[in-house]
Amino acid sequence: MASKFYITTPIYYPSDKLHIGHAYTTTIADSLARWHKFTGKDVYFLTGSDEHGQKIQRIAKEKGVTPKAYVDEIVVSFKKLWERLNIEYDDFVRTTDTRHHLAVQEVFRRIHEKGDIYKSTYQGNYCTPCESFWVESKLVDGNCPDCGRKVEIVEEESYFFKIGKYADRLLQHIADHPGFIQPESRRKEMVNFIKGGLEDLCVSRTTFDWGIGVPVDDKHVVYVWFDALTNYLTGVGFPDNEKMIETWWPADVHLVGKEIMRFHTIIWPSILLALDFPLPKTVFGHGWLLSDSDKMSKSKGNVVDPHALIDEFGVDPIRHFLLREISFGQDGNFSRRALIERTNSDLANDLGNLLNRSLAMLGKYFDGIIPSPGSVEVFDQELQDLAAVVRKKLVAQIDDLAINDGLATLWQLVSRANKYIDECAPWALAKDGNIERLQTVMYNTMEVQRIIALFIKSFLPQTGERIWAQLGIPVALDKQTIEDTQWGGLQIGTETKKGDPIFPRIDLVAEAEKQSAAKEKAQQKKQVDKKAVVEKVVDGVIGIEDFGKVQLVIAKILQAESVKGADKLLKLQVDSGDDQRQIVAGIAKYYTPDQLVGKNIVIVANLKPVKLRGELSQGMLLAASTKDGKLELVSVTDQITPGSRVK
Ligand code: MSP
Repeated sequence: MASKFYITTPIYYPSDKLHIGHAYTTTIADSLARWHKFTGKDVYFLTGSDEHGQKIQRIAKEKGVTPKAYVDEIVVSFKKLWERLNIEYDDFVRTTDTRHHLAVQEVFRRIHEKGDIYKSTYQGNYCTPCESFWVESKLVDGNCPDCGRKVEIVEEESYFFKIGKYADRLLQHIADHPGFIQPESRRKEMVNFIKGGLEDLCVSRTTFDWGIGVPVDDKHVVYVWFDALTNYLTGVGFPDNEKMIETWWPADVHLVGKEIMRFHTIIWPSILLALDFPLPKTVFGHGWLLSDSDKMSKSKGNVVDPHALIDEFGVDPIRHFLLREISFGQDGNFSRRALIERTNSDLANDLGNLLNRSLAMLGKYFDGIIPSPGSVEVFDQELQDLAAVVRKKLVAQIDDLAINDGLATLWQLVSRANKYIDECAPWALAKDGNIERLQTVMYNTMEVQRIIALFIKSFLPQTGERIWAQLGIPVALDKQTIEDTQWGGLQIGTETKKGDPIFPRIDLVAEAEKQSAAKEKAQQKKQVDKKAVVEKVVDGVIGIEDFGKVQLVIAKILQAESVKGADKLLKLQVDSGDDQRQIVAGIAKYYTPDQLVGKNIVIVANLKPVKLRGELSQGMLLAASTKDGKLELVSVTDQITPGSRVK
């Protein structure tokens, strides 16, 4: 039987849509799975969703839906993204699956029966976003040491797992298996954590119910990390499918982000030790993908949506960027500019141009048909040798999980192929009528690309297929294995099928213009939004601070008389409390002067004075008017003294 390779991704929280950081882990896992299949292994690739816990229950409540309805919808979006990214997983474990419930309850029951899980009371700190318990001494300024957010104090009856019991065995295992925790820096970190002492782990909760019931006590649900980690066993048929467990367990690689290493290298192995199960061969903690050098977060507004990127650039430029740009294990930066530069240099210039120009030459010299090669010269040998060296190096690098180095190795062959064309100058051979040499050079140029397509297909599946299609090779690419990368596999007489360039160059100038147009549009939108706010105010909505600007006061009318030459106006002398003032108002049609004297009316006292028909008006009186021409002054009784504020 071929050797096996079982690889997993973390199961993602459906607390939100997935972003490019999540796509990073899964793209790497997918590429590794495809590569190992290509090298002849039986491969099993597992992913899934981590759907229980307090965080999810709270989000669903905020949205006014049941937790199940909420997760069902988000999980569809997870699967959609994986489909678009060409992620070929073998199984997807949802922690709400019945099979997973059974697996978790069985793990709990076995450890409980063994006496390693007992009931007590937990009193301490809990970080809900990370779903993790923290002892006081590990907090940083009273906050969660992982995410920096505020912890909650919880006190509840809980079941505890005697994790400390396994600390020595775990340390011994780490010492005996240097490849168990990778990279090296994380291994040291985890060893120090264990040596710092492991408190018994709380493995059940009672203050919410969105979880898997504890099999021995229906008041409790299983702690979400205990639940989630078990997915790696659920995926291989635990507890019933013994054959499947035997075939696949232990996992070869658990690929996880650096912040969840503790769960995977301390809690998970301790659970497995308690179950008497072998430990995974490798837990690799990769770094974070930063967005313009900052941690991605919704509140910062810098979360990068992979769907939008795929819409704009296509899937393989995104996969290539994730696999090639970031030193695996370290943090790396995502920026639009870096993505475009990487795409232009590696995919458009090096790889795409190689295919495009060589097929154009083959069309011109041999009607697009692969010619038979003649004798081997120095440059030919160098190219062939490099293809063999690249194969060896790639196998070693991918075995070591040095993904970005592996892609750099593969691109050495792409560069060498371009250089080979320049060195051999087929155009000069054609001009000189050196047909035999021209045949050899064109054969080699196309053969090296057949091998490149084979190497590349695990990482950039769509690109592999596109090169293969243009080379016109009739056998299916997905049936090919690493054995087919031996030099000379390209059949003489194959009819190539030149198509459009597989990666058109992205014009950086046009891109800069597009960006500034987008900025301008955003600016305009801001202004429109601002205007909309102003218009809304005109529509009638004002803030209390606007109302506060208007000084409405009670004024007593002392005198009233008509204004010469203005039959609508009356001139009033009013007592407005601190002063006496003149107000000119258009009310002559509704009131005679003697009807007004003695009335207690409301005026706007801080209105800018104006002159009306030569008469100074120091304020405005308030009146209610109807459409059919009635008007009445707003007035109050004598109980309210002049100068009183109307509020
Ligand atoms: N549900 C747990 C995992 C349980 S596994 C038994 C969880 N989920 S998560 O959705 O928050 O994160 C899943 C993975 O995505 C983690 O490995 C995390 O490191 C990774 N990433 C989240 N943001 C990331 C980046 N910006 N960059 C790289 N990886 C990122 O934790």
